[in-house]
Amino acid sequence: MDAGVPALPSRASFDSTSSHSRSVPQLDLQRANGPLHDEITAALARVVESGCFVLGPECQQLEESFAEFCHTKHAVCCASGSDAVLLALMALDLQPGDQVILPSYTFFATASAVTRLGGKPVFVDIDPVTYNLDIEAVEQAITPLTKAILPVHLYGQCAEMDQLRDIATKHNLPLVEDAAQAIGAEWHGRKSGSLGDIGCFSFYPTKNLGALGDGGMLTTNDDALADRLRLLRVHGMRPRYVHSVVGINSRLDAFQAAVLRVKLGHLESWAAQRREVAHHYAALADFYQLRDVVQLPREMLSCVHAWNQYVVRVPAQHRDALRETLAERKVGTEIYYPIPLHLQTCFADLGYREGDLSETERAARETIALPIYPGLTPSEQEYVMRQIADYFAAVRLADPPPVSRPGQAPATYFPETRAA
Ligand SMILES: Cc1ncc(COP(=O)(O)O)c(C=O)c1O
Repeated sequence: MDAGVPALPSRASFDSTSSHSRSVPQLDLQRANGPLHDEITAALARVVESGCFVLGPECQQLEESFAEFCHTKHAVCCASGSDAVLLALMALDLQPGDQVILPSYTFFATASAVTRLGGKPVFVDIDPVTYNLDIEAVEQAITPLTKAILPVHLYGQCAEMDQLRDIATKHNLPLVEDAAQAIGAEWHGRKSGSLGDIGCFSFYPTKNLGALGDGGMLTTNDDALADRLRLLRVHGMRPRYVHSVVGINSRLDAFQAAVLRVKLGHLESWAAQRREVAHHYAALADFYQLRDVVQLPREMLSCVHAWNQYVVRVPAQHRDALRETLAERKVGTEIYYPIPLHLQTCFADLGYREGDLSETERAARETIALPIYPGLTPSEQEYVMRQIADYFAAVRLADPPPVSRPGQAPATYFPETRAA
């Protein structure tokens, strides 16, 4: 082997398939759920026998374990991550016309929670390295109508929570974490969900802690907010058939809670596997000398990334063609997200135009999510990266990158991306 080329890295500990995988799905839930079959069916049987199917003891015990996991005083379960964001804003008494600052580069539910209450989403741009809220843009977007700041911990990495906390405190605004993708993520030693006034989580099956259906959770250290969330998720009803406020029906069912209680016990080990997958991709990108064309995700210093998604950036002119090539070679990928929220038709009346959020729009053109999940093997990862290397080998032949001169920074397809 050429002395200048690093040796193919190994990640032997959980490599159970041949080194010639021919198909790598974007996601395979069965790899984590399958080994828990007996534990899960026993938990489901327990619920059947209990006769208690909505909220009740299973949900209460899940809430207690979840609060302990997140290091928060309270956890309040609900029917989905979308409802968690909605309930958080209801608990903060968002009124029609109130503005909420949030990223446009996120799942739809972050913003629809605002508009469902008659509020106005104020979309701000992202940092090009982390894909999370650009802090300067947040401060500039604050007006007398701002009612809350709603950062998203995208792909599993926390937004800049210390600076956001400073801004929120300075302007006397609540901070709501959309931590749907970031259970277990840490910001300087503190867990996601404990960093703002309210944390919102999703148990959608693709999440790091996924139910066998829908589910969500809210976390807070504030007794009054926790009480209000509990009231709002049951139609604002307390006691029975007495309604002091208008809430919604957003109850978690006991089957999902029972499954989640089983799975919560495995979360740390799955997180370690996701982390290993992420590190192995980085080693493979070095091995295949792909760093000039494939920009890898970066974990911020002193933070723990939950690696819900492994999203790389490639030159925009190659993103869709690369994705097609990978699909032909049976490698599943996804685009999170191809159309930023500020350019969605349903938000046209907010008046945003193409070009308003340049980093968001660039990310939507350049990013592609590679497979990452517990049980993904090193040989599968090697297969994925080899297909990417093949694609760019052909590109380099046809269209070589600019040559850098001695003393200049190395040539890159991403000259405009600033460092973290
Ligand atoms: C950032 C973000 N917010 C909110 C949600 C909504 O969660 P759910 O699908 O459980 O309603 C999701 C789920 O995909 C998400 O990724």
